Amino acid sequence: METCLGKRSVILIWFMALATFCPSAWGEVCNKEQKRALLEIKNSTDGLAFKDFDGGDCCEAIDNISCEGLLTRIDLRGIDIPISRTWIPNVTLFTLFGELQELYLSGINIGGELQPFCELKRLKYLRILDLRNNKLEGNIPSCLGTIEKLSQLDLSGNHLHGNLPSSIFSNHSSIMVFDVSDNQLDGNIPSYPGIIQQFDISNNHFQGNVPSSIFSNQSQISLFDVS
Ligand SMILES: *[C@@H]1O[C@H](CO)[C@@H](O)[C@H](O)[C@H]1NC(C)=O
Ligand SMILES: *[C@@H]1O[C@H](CO)[C@@H](O)[C@H](O)[C@H]1NC(C)=O
Ligand SMILES: *[C@@H]1O[C@H](CO)[C@@H](O)[C@H](O)[C@H]1NC(C)=O
Ligand SMILES: *[C@@H]1O[C@H](CO)[C@@H](O)[C@H](O)[C@H]1NC(C)=O
Ligand SMILES: *[C@@H]1O[C@H](CO)[C@@H](O)[C@H](O)[C@H]1NC(C)=O
Repeated sequence: METCLGKRSVILIWFMALATFCPSAWGEVCNKEQKRALLEIKNSTDGLAFKDFDGGDCCEAIDNISCEGLLTRIDLRGIDIPISRTWIPNVTLFTLFGELQELYLSGINIGGELQPFCELKRLKYLRILDLRNNKLEGNIPSCLGTIEKLSQLDLSGNHLHGNLPSSIFSNHSSIMVFDVSDNQLDGNIPSYPGIIQQFDISNNHFQGNVPSSIFSNQSQISLFDVS
């Protein structure tokens, strides 16, 4: 009798340990830190992001989160941050989702500089970064080129100025879609070792020619502006 209880409590302790160290064993995708991050992001948007997330299993929340076994996509497009308010997200919080592949943060009045977004290089699977139509200012930091798997980068419709750093392209050639239209960028357009499918630099103040090395004949290119 006693040994039986003993065994049971051993099994119980074992399961408790499993639940603590391996939440997915219980069907939970996010760990404690990730749940807290989502709540912090939610709080910093006055509850507009992840509206239905209550701190439980993150993949059971459907507003702005998508999971394929793991949390792979965060999409905050359409959250109604008032135009009068500038949101400065804590980018570190997004880096806690190591499996994230797509991050859509467009049209939600994000202000400040791009530099903090360099932290996203910790996301080894990030393919899409969409920051279009925000209020970002300052230069485009070259460190965005160190996000290893990035294939779509959309920075259009912000208040960015300065050059397009060549190093944004030099270290990896996985960028297929590149959009910096509708900013105040200037200087020359760097060359690029990869092949780009969509390249939009319209409505800026660039000078000079676009290096032919970046195009294949399937490329869609918009550069009407060179003003
Ligand atoms: C955000 O957190 C602060 C401080 O903990 C709290 O006072 C506030 O009510 C929270 N806001 C929302 C929308 O949850
Ligand atoms: C994000 O969530 C908000 C609030 O529920 C919703 O209005 C918006 O459409 C969602 N955006 C996307 C892209 O799912
Ligand atoms: C951003 O979030 C991280 C991780 O939770 C935290 O350590 C850091 O203090 C936060 N930064 C700001 C400015 O709130
Ligand atoms: C390119 O990558 C290498 C190795 O990862 C790194 O040392 C170097 O600083 C990077 N250069 C740029 C311009 O990002
Ligand atoms: C350009 O496209 C045509 C037809 O779409 C194709 O036959 C040709 O091989 C392509 N050339 C290059 C250099 O990609």
